[in-house]
Parts: sequence; structure tokens; C-alpha cells
Amino acid sequence: MAESVISATSITKSFGATRALRGIDLDVERGEVLAVMGPSGSGKSTLIHCLAGVLAPDQGSVRIDGTEVTALSADARAQFRLHHIGFVFQFGQLLPDLTAADNVALPLLMSGVRRREARARALDGLDRLGVGPQAMQTPGDMSGGQAQRVAIARALVAQPPVLFADEPTGSLDSVAAEQVLGAMLEVVRDSGTTVVLITHDARTAAHADREVIVRDGALSGVGSVAHSVPGRAR
Ligand SMILES: Nc1ncnc2c1ncn2[C@@H]1O[C@H](COP(=O)(O)OP(=O)(O)OP(=O)(O)O)[C@@H](O)[C@H]1O
Ligand SMILES: [Mg+2]
Repeated sequence: MAESVISATSITKSFGATRALRGIDLDVERGEVLAVMGPSGSGKSTLIHCLAGVLAPDQGSVRIDGTEVTALSADARAQFRLHHIGFVFQFGQLLPDLTAADNVALPLLMSGVRRREARARALDGLDRLGVGPQAMQTPGDMSGGQAQRVAIARALVAQPPVLFADEPTGSLDSVAAEQVLGAMLEVVRDSGTTVVLITHDARTAAHADREVIVRDGALSGVGSVAHSVPGRAR
């Protein structure tokens, strides 16, 4: 049996009368890249927010890397996220007045890493995503693709075992999207990071090991395995 790094059982979530998630079971193996697809409003963002501990589901349990996140208090969940989870939002997540280097160093500073080390790790992360030259620029002076690379570097800087990305290339044209995705996948494949990636784009999903489809708050279809991670049992 391969090891599940994310294990969700029967999760439900409603917003008032809207039943956003109707009972989702999902396991993701260590090192797997999973694409989540499905129509607008089907519950994709709600699902990854519940998996990442950004939102608490109404019912069900989520275990990440051995910790039952649904059993933690809101404060403990926030602490857990800092060390175990990277999250890339679609846009508007970088602090506009900080340089790329300071944006990426921030999560490390928040978890008590010393300034000099945080800065060195931030610069290394920017380099690995191909935005080393932009280190001293603020987000407003970058292209959309560069800003997304910085956001991905920030999500990965604490070396979380799990990365969630909600349409990280959704605002980019197809060439830029492909390049940013390629840079992200190279880094995560290299480090063995488990990835859950929401996308509307079949070409993006084709880079994943597996895809699932959310419809009306339920997982309706489990797609084919595009390619397998070496050494991983299925
Ligand atoms: N904070 C909220 N308050 C009220 N309703 C919400 C909230 N967040 C999501 N919803 C509702 O829950 C349902 C699922 O929303 P969700 O954002 O998860 O969809 P999605 O699949 O990510 O859509 P998209 O592809 O457009 O991003 C929708 O009906 C949405 O209106
Ligand atoms: Mg969404």
C-alpha cells in the first residue's frame, strides 16, 4: 500500500443553504500531483480550502501528513499550515509594498527563522522558479507570470510536504501558463512535494499523475493516470 499524505473522509461544507461539498472522500499519495477539475461553482476551491485547513468542514475528517487537521483549534490549524502546507491563490496574494525577496521571506520570518537565513532561502527559491532577477522588484513592476512564480516560491519556501494551488496560472495566457506550470512542477517533482492543483485547462491537467472531477460538491469521476511516479505502487 502506498502512503497517503492527504486523507479526507466524508467531508461536507455548506454556506447557508448552499451545499458546497456533499461528502467527499479523497486520498492523495506522497509525491503525487493531483489535478482537480470541474465546472465553476462546483466546489473545487471549497474542497482545497477544507483540505488545507483554511476552512473547517462541517463534517468529516482531514488528515495531512499524519495530523488530524480537523481536530485542531483554529490557532493550531494556522500554525500547522505554516509548517506543513503551501497555498497558491489565483491572484492578489503578494504584498504590493514588499519586494519579491521580502514577500517570499515572510512566511519564514513568521515561523521564527532568522532574517539572514530567511533572505538566503528566499533568494534561492526565487532562483529556482526563474525569477532571481526580479528579487528586488515589487509585484506591481512584474509581469503576471513573474508574480505567479514569486507566489509559488513563497508557497514553497518553508519546504511544506503538501502544496495546494488554486488555478495558479488561470490569469495567464497559454504560453506563460505553460512556462510557470513547468517551473513549478520541476521544483515539486525534484523535492517530492505532494500537489493538489485546481485547473480548468485539460493541458495543465495532463501534467498531473491523476485527475478528479468535482460536480455539484461531489467527486464525480476519477480520471486516468497520465503517468506514474517512479517506484510508487498503485
Ligand atoms: N464564503 C462563501 N459564502 C457563501 N457561499 C460560498 C462561499 N464560498 C463558496 N460559496 C458557494 O459554494 C459553491 C462552491 O464554490 P467554490 O468557490 O468552491 O466553487 P469553484 O468550483 O471553486 O468555482 P470556480 O471554478 O468558479 O472557482 C458555490 O455555489 C459558491 O457560491
Ligand atoms: Mg474556485
